[in-house]
Amino acid sequence: GCSCKIGPSILNADLSSLASECQRLMDSGSDYLHLDVMDGHFVPNLTFGHPIVKCLRPKMPGVFFEMHMMVENPERWVEPMADAGANMYTFHYEATSDPVSCIRKIKEAGMKVGLGINPPTDVEVVLPYVDMVDLILVMTVNPGFGGQAFIADCLPKVKYLRDRYKQLDIEVDGGVGPKTIQQCAEVGANVIVSGSALVKHENPRKAIIDMRSIVDE
Ligand code: DX5
Ligand code: ZN
Repeated sequence: GCSCKIGPSILNADLSSLASECQRLMDSGSDYLHLDVMDGHFVPNLTFGHPIVKCLRPKMPGVFFEMHMMVENPERWVEPMADAGANMYTFHYEATSDPVSCIRKIKEAGMKVGLGINPPTDVEVVLPYVDMVDLILVMTVNPGFGGQAFIADCLPKVKYLRDRYKQLDIEVDGGVGPKTIQQCAEVGANVIVSGSALVKHENPRKAIIDMRSIVDE
């Protein structure tokens, strides 16, 4: 079986049909949903917030929602997202001056914690927090838009973490699909976000099977 988890980013899906798009991707063999929240400050784009997540929750019972919070002041949306039914709250190291209090707040709200770093950020900055979080997200594009080109220069960060933490969940996000998943898995990523490569694929089920078989080789 595949040791990787694959979660679609629905950023480039038809967002007017969010629930059916999410259902289509789950029915295609995804393990979880990666939901991209953008505030127009931390990144130069807007998507959606907790009111949409709250409406989506009852339509997708049992599906794991990872919230990728590309927002400034991530502390601010912890409780609303927990109340909306989010399972994991992944915030950015660059977005807060106090990661520890954000981590505590997320745990107190009953969610799992992810901590993300952008391509220009050194991987060492997450080391003090690794033991407090459930997942480290290594961005492989500068966040803000789906469909950007994969930045392979970010992969040594994944390897650095994997060499030190055998059990840690390490997620990659940005430009990952059948053509780039192998490089990610090779260096130790085990949680894979894939957006346009899945959403725009005529047969996402096949794309996911292909990705799993590449990783399993
Ligand atoms: C980037 C988002 C990603 C991205 C994934 O700002 O966090 O989740 O949209 O989409 P692709 O796979 O198309 O890069
Ligand atoms: Zn994302």
